[in-house]
Amino acid sequence: MTLKVAILGAGQAGIRHITGFLAVEHAQVTAVADTDADLARHEAGRSGATPFQDWRTALDTALELDAVVVALPHHLHAEAACMAAERGLHVLMEKPMGSTLVEGRRIEEACRTAGVVLMICFVHRFRDEAIQAKAWIEAGHIGVPVNCMETIASPRGSHLGSWINSPDLSGGGVLLYTGVHAMDRLLWLVDAPLRDVHASIRTLTAGSRVEEAVTALLTFDNGAMATLNVTGPTYPAGGTSWRSEIYGTEGVIRIRARQSVEIAGNNLVQCINIGDTAAQEGEHYNFRRQAEAFVHAVLSGQDAPIPGRHGLAVLEACRMIYAHGVDEPVLR
Ligand SMILES: NC(=O)c1ccc[n+]([C@@H]2O[C@H](COP(=O)([O-])OP(=O)(O)OC[C@H]3O[C@@H](n4cnc5c(N)ncnc54)[C@H](O)[C@@H]3O)[C@@H](O)[C@H]2O)c1
Repeated sequence: MTLKVAILGAGQAGIRHITGFLAVEHAQVTAVADTDADLARHEAGRSGATPFQDWRTALDTALELDAVVVALPHHLHAEAACMAAERGLHVLMEKPMGSTLVEGRRIEEACRTAGVVLMICFVHRFRDEAIQAKAWIEAGHIGVPVNCMETIASPRGSHLGSWINSPDLSGGGVLLYTGVHAMDRLLWLVDAPLRDVHASIRTLTAGSRVEEAVTALLTFDNGAMATLNVTGPTYPAGGTSWRSEIYGTEGVIRIRARQSVEIAGNNLVQCINIGDTAAQEGEHYNFRRQAEAFVHAVLSGQDAPIPGRHGLAVLEACRMIYAHGVDEPVLR
């Protein structure tokens, strides 16, 4: 069987999803929806799909659909995912699941009721360095994770959709757009529910209506603790940075995204340079792996590797930061 997929939203993320699905056996992109008609036509043309100018029209009129990828601005996530589920379509859902926990729960319930697969796009997990780190932890090479440092920075600017600066459309700033990946990584690697949050939240540029920096101190039910630093520099040379350090009772793992992953433990010391996979398979090879995992879950009937409950846990953790974080005024 070939899974016929509609891409809802052909922006930054949607384009990567199309490229990912194009490389997957047993999958075909049959519809691409975007309000930008030229973009929809261009992206549909890459895959022989039918272009649509609105996600609703795609769901109403596209023939032969089995699944959707929701890669729309955050305020549209819940409506699009729920409507797709009600029509019996499987859902690959961009992060965050919704802007609010209520929206996230609606999506999870709609998919559960309809009996369709719901998988959340924490696409960083499909990178070699993350897979290796998780494997080392599961093999017990660092003992129990007790103290983690997580940093994620990604420049904000005109290359991103303007909706991300509108709280009504985005639901939040850098934490919901970028920091969710770091929060997912912490919850995944520590593998324990979040217990408590202390946080400071900053707006760095005058006039910004969403937060641009967050520093949080997190504690987990198993006693582990972590710091989370999320920054969205507005200077273009800011670059993208993702660094994780996971100190366990018997060793430490350090991840430098797209560069290396290393372990220094009582029983294992190793540093692996990452880069070959991206050089051979493209910078966004993790989108292809994510698409493969989704298609496999649907066609095999097995559980999705990142199900809705993980998306809800991450969303809840982010909303805890917003609820408890001390929000300071603009710095300059
Ligand atoms: N996993 C990742 O690496 C990653 C990267 C970027 C964004 N994202 C996520 O992907 C989602 C989209 O973000 P983005 O950065 O791609 O945004 P974007 O603005 O680049 O793309 C969104 C697209 O949706 C289109 N759109 C808006 N309303 C629509 C409608 N009614 N019907 C059809 N299309 C419509 C817009 O025209 C736009 O092209 C968000 O959830 C975001 O958090 C994930």
